[in-house]
Amino acid sequence: MSKKVVLTGDRPTGKLHIGHYVGSLRERVKMQESGEFNPFIMIADQQALTDNARDPEKIRRSLTEVALDYLAVGLDPAKSTLFVQSQIPALAELNLYYLNLVTVSRLERNPTVKAEIQQKNFNRSIPAGFFTYPVSQTADITAFKADLVPVGDDQEPMLEQAREIVRTFNSIYGDVLVEPEGVFPPKGQGRIPGLDGNAKMSKSLGNAIYLSDDEDTLKKKVMSMYTDPNHIHVEDPGQVEGNVVFTYLDIFDKDVAKVQELKEQYRHGGLGDVKIKRYLMEVLNAELAPIRQRRAEFATDLPAVMDMLKAGSDRANQVAAKTLDEVKDAMGLNYFK
Ligand code: TRP
Repeated sequence: MSKKVVLTGDRPTGKLHIGHYVGSLRERVKMQESGEFNPFIMIADQQALTDNARDPEKIRRSLTEVALDYLAVGLDPAKSTLFVQSQIPALAELNLYYLNLVTVSRLERNPTVKAEIQQKNFNRSIPAGFFTYPVSQTADITAFKADLVPVGDDQEPMLEQAREIVRTFNSIYGDVLVEPEGVFPPKGQGRIPGLDGNAKMSKSLGNAIYLSDDEDTLKKKVMSMYTDPNHIHVEDPGQVEGNVVFTYLDIFDKDVAKVQELKEQYRHGGLGDVKIKRYLMEVLNAELAPIRQRRAEFATDLPAVMDMLKAGSDRANQVAAKTLDEVKDAMGLNYFK
């Protein structure tokens, strides 16, 4: 039995934060370590360019940062193929063929893209490459014949779109492509709010904890977290719902009983914000310190990181080129074979 193929990736538009970590990085490492899969992890620099075309330097810089974040969380080039999207020409070619299999109105219905268009105030000035990135993402997924795609909840519409394109392609040209399945975090576990209580943690909102944050920065961020604005004196009863410190404890603290106890105490009054923040700091630091340390070690040899990405990209290229060849065979485009 051949192992199930896993394909996933991230846009390099900055460093990765703990939102990425709980949303999918953790799951990828788990899948890698189980030994049951053949994982491909892609740095989606072309997708990052779809809304950063005028700032390629940012993407170039972020490529290294994301590679370091991957290695830091435990993605291991000996077990997972880590590669760079722009170095795989077959992806762009597949994208071109798939673009003919979707309509503009279907693309307009993608809720994640819709939300991003609003958020970025594009109005009608949407870069066409941005508008169609779910199609390019389908190329990423299908080029490796991925069975599974471990991603955050916001990527569900991309999977839906990918499956539709696969079905359309296969029904017209014959069974070449594999329908992928999304692997999402367990309910309530895959999303972490920002430090300020905003439902989304993001760089642009300035409310993120980065995997690369040093201990001092982490401490400052935890101390600045949104709690219960009406919890002023230690003895005041406090609210746990919507209190970011408790949300984080729910996600990171393995000692569930202890968290329950702290919640009770907080609700009754008598537990100060500084105290629970100190406790959260310990919990977070226990998880992040080894990541931070590994990251610093890898960062001392950036040429080795680039070599690793090159080796991964070479491997990925072979797989993607083979799929493209099958696609062109099925479409009758290999005229000179
Ligand atoms: N859209 C993904 C994100 O924003 C990144 C990505 C690009 C991706 N291609 C992919 C994820 C293929 C999974 C599979 O995070």
